Amino acid sequence: ENLQGSSFPYKYGSLPAFVLHQPPIPQEEAKQFPKQISFTQQSSAASRSAMATKIYIVYYSTWGHVATLAEEIKKGADSVPGVEVTVWRVPETLPEEVLGKMHAAPGREDHPVITARQLAEADGVLFGFPTRFGMMAAQMKAFFDSTGGLWQEGALAGKPAGVFFATGTQGGGQETTALTAVTQLTHHGMLFVPVGYTHGAGMFAMDEVKGGSPYGAGTFAGADGSRTPTDAELALAEHQGKYFAGIAKKLKAVV
Ligand SMILES: Cc1cc2nc3c(=O)[nH]c(=O)nc-3n(C[C@H](O)[C@H](O)[C@H](O)COP(=O)(O)O)c2cc1C
Repeated sequence: ENLQGSSFPYKYGSLPAFVLHQPPIPQEEAKQFPKQISFTQQSSAASRSAMATKIYIVYYSTWGHVATLAEEIKKGADSVPGVEVTVWRVPETLPEEVLGKMHAAPGREDHPVITARQLAEADGVLFGFPTRFGMMAAQMKAFFDSTGGLWQEGALAGKPAGVFFATGTQGGGQETTALTAVTQLTHHGMLFVPVGYTHGAGMFAMDEVKGGSPYGAGTFAGADGSRTPTDAELALAEHQGKYFAGIAKKLKAVV
């Protein structure tokens, strides 16, 4: 797309002057800006509230740890009445030959592969990914890179989003992975919903190794990938699903 062009069709109006290299938005147009970002533009409040709250859990996983968290998160979200939950995978970008050499787990057939366009159907999205050098795996980044059309339409703006993650090791980047993912959500105008300390006292316990944090559910795979999510990690994941679904449902009710 022509990002420099003066008629860039961004849904919420003109792009700022520093992007377009043209004079600032005229006052009259600028005044319309808040009106244009009304949530009700996505669909009417009446038609949306009549439907269930759709939560999409969208993940990438090479060896299955993130996939396991996704299932647990679904369990929690499913426990909220009026919520409809679907678990999706993002497209793989590596060739079969490479995946074979990495001993990657086969993609789960019960989790269909999502397209960028389908993302717009959700009322809230929880994104899960393994860490690669302290940030999200390239497969998830490639998926976000395919959402330019949704960005242009503002199709995800105002929708709540959360994240969950896996790293090989403690200190391997759980929080940097979550934080760097926030840039993706921000550019779409999505509302980052961290889990905070809402899971209670267990989050303060120091008696065992556990992934996850106020940023979201997490697990440690171990340097060789042999560690599986612990009960405490699964409990936070389930809680995140429930907590997030509750927030998404409330938001849907008011917009
Ligand atoms: C290229 C590469 C880079 C990685 N970088 C990190 C890292 O920075 N920190 C870390 O703790 N683990 C790192 N890992 C380990 C993965 O994060 C870990 O295997 C993954 O979280 C397991 O999740 P999965 O079973 O869902 O694929 C890396 C793995 C690969 C293949």
